[in-house]
Amino acid sequence: MTEIAKGLAGVKFTESKLTFINGEEGILLHLGIPIQEWAENSTFEELSLALLEGKLPTASELAAFDAHLKENRAIPQQLQQVIHDMPRGINPMQALRTAVSYLGLLDPQSEDITPEARRAITVRMIAQFSTIIAAISRTQEGHDMVAPRMDLTHAGNFLYMLTGQEPTAEQSRLFDIALVLHVDHAMNASTFTAIATSSTLSDMYSCITSAIGALKGPLHGGANEAVMDMLDEVGTPDRAADYISKKLDSKEKIMGVGHRVYKNFDPRSRVLRDYAEHVANKEGKSNYYQILETIEKTVVDRLGDKGIYPNVDFYSGTVYSDLGIKKEFFTPIFALARISGWCASVIEYSQDNSLLRPSSVYTGEKDAHYVQIQDRK
Ligand code: ACO
Repeated sequence: MTEIAKGLAGVKFTESKLTFINGEEGILLHLGIPIQEWAENSTFEELSLALLEGKLPTASELAAFDAHLKENRAIPQQLQQVIHDMPRGINPMQALRTAVSYLGLLDPQSEDITPEARRAITVRMIAQFSTIIAAISRTQEGHDMVAPRMDLTHAGNFLYMLTGQEPTAEQSRLFDIALVLHVDHAMNASTFTAIATSSTLSDMYSCITSAIGALKGPLHGGANEAVMDMLDEVGTPDRAADYISKKLDSKEKIMGVGHRVYKNFDPRSRVLRDYAEHVANKEGKSNYYQILETIEKTVVDRLGDKGIYPNVDFYSGTVYSDLGIKKEFFTPIFALARISGWCASVIEYSQDNSLLRPSSVYTGEKDAHYVQIQDRK
């Protein structure tokens, strides 16, 4: 009997030098460097460039890339109008998908799939994703868009455009670390989708709109939003253990725990836990954090031997909430970071492109005949 790799689990279809994951041991490396070191020392801009170039950049290379991103922060007036005219109350990921697709219509280089063009479009998209997402958030809430500032970091400028207030250095850095943690994660569903589209020699905007569509689904993006709903439902830390035990007794899934690859702690969740704890201790907003601590303990006690531990979504929602980001925008923020991983992966794959065309095992009939419509029951 033909073996089927359900969900393509374990199927290796290409080589990549970008990201390595060892799920059993909870290891995540970009260019061989542990994610903890990237989080501690690096920035979103630097990791994005490193993945695009396949090496740590020099100071002058990073400064040039940073300047290039800043120059490209503004979005065309026509796109601002499209975002402004979008219906209210829509899913922000639908809005992002539409805006990115529209951006492609306005880009004279959009159909160019040479490596140089893919690289140039990537820089523009990384820069403009931030402005687009902030603009969607503000217009959906009935506020004016905030123009980008050139004197702030990518992370700091995003928070500024989102809230209209200049963030503190600590808030910018915290958000920067959250972006770093989400930049790339090997062959996840949205990166695979971007590559599948690019393998047909389609354009960058098509690759990225496909990826946004894949990320939108709740099994990929969006679990951190569900974690916040759970925290609100639990309400107070003393109710957490009982709440989780009842859910587990009735075989319900707990959001923000478990992972297809990690069968140990997701290293990104450990980094975020430390920052969530720091913010909670400093600002006294410890209710959410205390609930999460209790949930983590209860889940690990009961499911640790099945390899179920907190994933990156477990703590990210509270960090984002503390930064004033609404939960409907958690998945667009995932995209804000992952755009660099998507583009770097597409560019890497297109260097030795092969059309993706898996097959399925046919289980239907083989000896049927056409029946005239009037003779069918
Ligand atoms: N809560 C409770 N039990 C769980 C959970 C969970 N979140 N996840 C897995 N389990 C249990 C399963 O019920 C199963 O138990 P069984 O052996 O008694 O049947 C066992 O652990 C193995 O689970 P699988 O479903 O085989 O694990 P899989 O690797 O397919 O699932 C998934 C991974 C989909 C992420 C799952 O853990 C889940 O739904 N988690 C909650 C949603 C979530 O947090 N998603 C974000 C993932 S990270 C990201 O995309 C950035």
